[in-house]
Amino acid sequence: MMTDLFEEVKNRYEIVSFISQFVKLKKVGKNYVGLCPFHSERTPSFTVSPDKQIFKCFGCGAAGDVVTFYMKYKNLEFREALLELAEKAGIKVDKRYFSSKQKERDLIEINFKIAKLYQHFLWNHPSGEKARGYLKERGISEETARFFHLGYAPSEGRVLASLLRAQNISLDLAVEAGLLKKGEDGSYLDVFRDRLIFPIFNEKGECVGFGGRTLDPEGEPKYLNSPESKVFKKSEVLYGLFQSKEYIKKEGAVFLVEGYFDYLALWERGIKNLSATCGTALTEHHLKKLKLLTEEWYILYDGDEAGRKAALRATSLILKEGFLPRVILLPEGEDPDSFAKKYHGKNLLEELNKRSLEGIKFIWEFYKEEYQKSPSKVFREIIELLKGVSDPLLLKRISRELSYYLGINETDIERRLKIEVQEEPSYCPSEGIDREECYLRIIAQYLVNYPEDWPFLERIGLKQLIDENSEKPYHRFLKKFMEVRLAEISLFEIPDPEFQEILSDLLLSPPFDDKEEVFKDIVHFIETELKKREIKQLVENLKVLEKMGNKEEIESYLLKLKSTIYNKEIL
Ligand code: UTP
Ligand code: MN
Repeated sequence: MMTDLFEEVKNRYEIVSFISQFVKLKKVGKNYVGLCPFHSERTPSFTVSPDKQIFKCFGCGAAGDVVTFYMKYKNLEFREALLELAEKAGIKVDKRYFSSKQKERDLIEINFKIAKLYQHFLWNHPSGEKARGYLKERGISEETARFFHLGYAPSEGRVLASLLRAQNISLDLAVEAGLLKKGEDGSYLDVFRDRLIFPIFNEKGECVGFGGRTLDPEGEPKYLNSPESKVFKKSEVLYGLFQSKEYIKKEGAVFLVEGYFDYLALWERGIKNLSATCGTALTEHHLKKLKLLTEEWYILYDGDEAGRKAALRATSLILKEGFLPRVILLPEGEDPDSFAKKYHGKNLLEELNKRSLEGIKFIWEFYKEEYQKSPSKVFREIIELLKGVSDPLLLKRISRELSYYLGINETDIERRLKIEVQEEPSYCPSEGIDREECYLRIIAQYLVNYPEDWPFLERIGLKQLIDENSEKPYHRFLKKFMEVRLAEISLFEIPDPEFQEILSDLLLSPPFDDKEEVFKDIVHFIETELKKREIKQLVENLKVLEKMGNKEEIESYLLKLKSTIYNKEIL
């Protein structure tokens, strides 16, 4: 099992001597310290513990064991790091360990093969004529189309299967890649038919999926995208990032667009520091990739209501990452592609810049009219959008501007924006995580240090607070922690880099000053959270009742409920 290999690898390497190959370490007390290789610093805050065989940087928070160190240092995936270290130590590794990686490589390989095939159809096949005409109509040059490996998937739908068979390539793999569909009669049908094909590359330049635009004006859906797979995750991949990366870095700025043609139309006009989402909203994962390249952000979405709403969300997300974006407002009914065409022969960059608004101003413009009618509703919505911003300078700036627009005292606004943060107990790390995550971290730190209290916390309902499907790291950590406790294996044996990183971080974090006080806080947190949820449920039930039952009776009940809530000061 993977667990065994993980254990074996860790046993073969002594962490201090291992890390010493990469970082100069000095003994201080029980531990060793050095300059952190994961962020730049002048005084050492990178600490290695020979007792626990883990490391932690008190500057940037990086933490883990030998394998996580190697993974981070060499920029490898966990599995790759594990396998390399095993190989170096001369441990015999079962071939099965390579299979998952291999599957990813196979998917990428088949995708690229098919991309080239579609490209061939576009330029060299009679059926591609239609698509070539379409590209021309949309103003995309042959040079650009070739550079992005655009292609054409013919309409008959029987192209891929025979070709793959002839080359002895597994049809099941093509099914998994979302290129073929197996019919009930056992025959295979191409998924993309009579579509212009946009191969999607990840930032490493690997072909991970496709978008296909119908050439039939009535065709549904307008765009068909590859299904999610091991290599294609829409919430992470950005169209064109591979090709635009260097331009984004060079300009120190990025234009975010929402469509393949929007991307290409701007590229065609010489604006190349771009990237496009692939049919999903912008996410933190997207931003993490771009953050490494740029500090200046331009949101360039469609000029309709949907586009402006998406821009609002994007603005909020980027502010939470610590940057103030600009939003380019296109006229109603225009998208970046049509706008670029309209300003043919003019300086497009200048035209775009003219229409750009600083993000906070944009938020105000969006709500301005409605604010006159329902100020408190709008105020709440704006606060909701801006609440997670943790950068103190940005927070000041937002408060000042909002105060000017809304006519509300600056310090009041600032307090509202920071309210979550102030509620955090003093021993919570200020990593910009929300209150709940903050408490879960404390609970996790408490439990790894005092596992004997786990049964008690479980009894009072800790389990109900851990969301099974949450993407948040401490939810996942605690969920795993409970599984491990039930299985009674050691926490250090879990071959999961995120788990090990958090575990090391927690074990090397400064101990609590007052263990009893922390315990009381934790119990209080669990109890109030559960109560809050109970009340929320009650309120929801009441809403349903309200539709069906005696109105007056229910209203008086609601009032009673409200007063209990306020007396308890829970909400
Ligand atoms: P739009 O509907 O704005 O299309 O979708 P567009 O980019 O302007 O397309 P053209 O100009 O009519 O060809 C924007 C993006 O949303 C995704 C695609 O990534 C598209 O580029 N989308 C749209 C889908 O994934 N599926 C759809 O059916 C429509
Ligand atoms: Mn368009």
